[in-house]
Amino acid sequence: MEIYDEVPSTQDAARECLSHPPFLVVASCQSKGKGRLGRVWESPRGGLYFTLVIEALSQLWAIPLVSAYTVWKALSSKVVNLRLKWPNDVYADGGKLAGIIVETWGGRLGIGVGVNVNQRAFRGELVAKATSLSMIVGQEFNLEGLLEDIVSGIIKSMEKFREFGFAHFHPEVQRVLLSSKQPVKFSNEGKNYTGKLLDMDSSGSALVQTSDGRLFKLPAQHLLESP
Ligand code: BTN
Repeated sequence: MEIYDEVPSTQDAARECLSHPPFLVVASCQSKGKGRLGRVWESPRGGLYFTLVIEALSQLWAIPLVSAYTVWKALSSKVVNLRLKWPNDVYADGGKLAGIIVETWGGRLGIGVGVNVNQRAFRGELVAKATSLSMIVGQEFNLEGLLEDIVSGIIKSMEKFREFGFAHFHPEVQRVLLSSKQPVKFSNEGKNYTGKLLDMDSSGSALVQTSDGRLFKLPAQHLLESP
């Protein structure tokens, strides 16, 4: 495990690290936290920021979904009423609580997790979009304990995943996603859409309906990023 006070991004630090997987890179804050699709992940002190590096496995496309489900499960034991949003975000009533990015680096995978934990306020556009565990329950959380819970959960999920594949997770991930009722944002042919999740099939693809009744099938293959 590598522990930093501050790095630009644990994703980049992990990619450059020569250790043999599995290993973990953790930072107290990040100056250039990476979100999905080229977005920035605001990473002040008080949040949890880590990258778990594992060896690549088959059905790579499912790793973001399974990782997000596992983070959702770990956080659901701390606060109630959390929702999972396809493909890989965790929401609470006040907004986004955690985000997951999965990058492929040759034969290795970097599973990056950011959780808003002890932040008491957000800046700019995040004021309306983000929340933290501490803002929800009004108390501070132990970051090390939370790290241990989430990382051990992901490692267990990956062991199950290696053995049984996505089939093992599909019914439960599907149930949680559908009961979460979170709108899905996506773009198609240069246009941005928001739609209702109708289903997620055994290949992780989302069936989404927009408000004008159009149906879109969004493949899970698109969820992996490479820097
Ligand atoms: C998203 O919702 O867009 C994904 C956010 C992922 C953020 C985490 S924080 C730890 C790791 N290092 C990064 O630079 N990004 C991920």
